[in-house]
Amino acid sequence: MVKVTFISSNGERIAAEGKAGDRLLSAGQAAGMPLEGTCEGQMACSTCHVVVAKAWFERLPRASEDEEDMLDLAAGVRRTSRLACQIELTAELDGLEVNIPGESHDMQRR
Ligand code: FES
Repeated sequence: MVKVTFISSNGERIAAEGKAGDRLLSAGQAAGMPLEGTCEGQMACSTCHVVVAKAWFERLPRASEDEEDMLDLAAGVRRTSRLACQIELTAELDGLEVNIPGESHDMQRR
């Protein structure tokens, strides 16, 4: 299993895990994270937006142009924002840390 940690908008750390090949989105949903994933991975909603910890961001395969376009529309986007439905869990990502953006707690808006 690939272990990932979600950090909620109030700083709580939630451990989750998924199988290699699973999407980060489904691991997050299984752990009860508020990631709607309305379009089920079609890159048409951005409700699966997460902010990846810097050290991990560089280790992820780059976002496609479609993903970048969708992220432009997401609230509270940061430099290391990604769509969780586009991140495939692999053994190399064991230990991955991502933040759940909370619109009302967004640092850019405080
Ligand atoms: Fe809609 Fe990821 S689930 S963009």
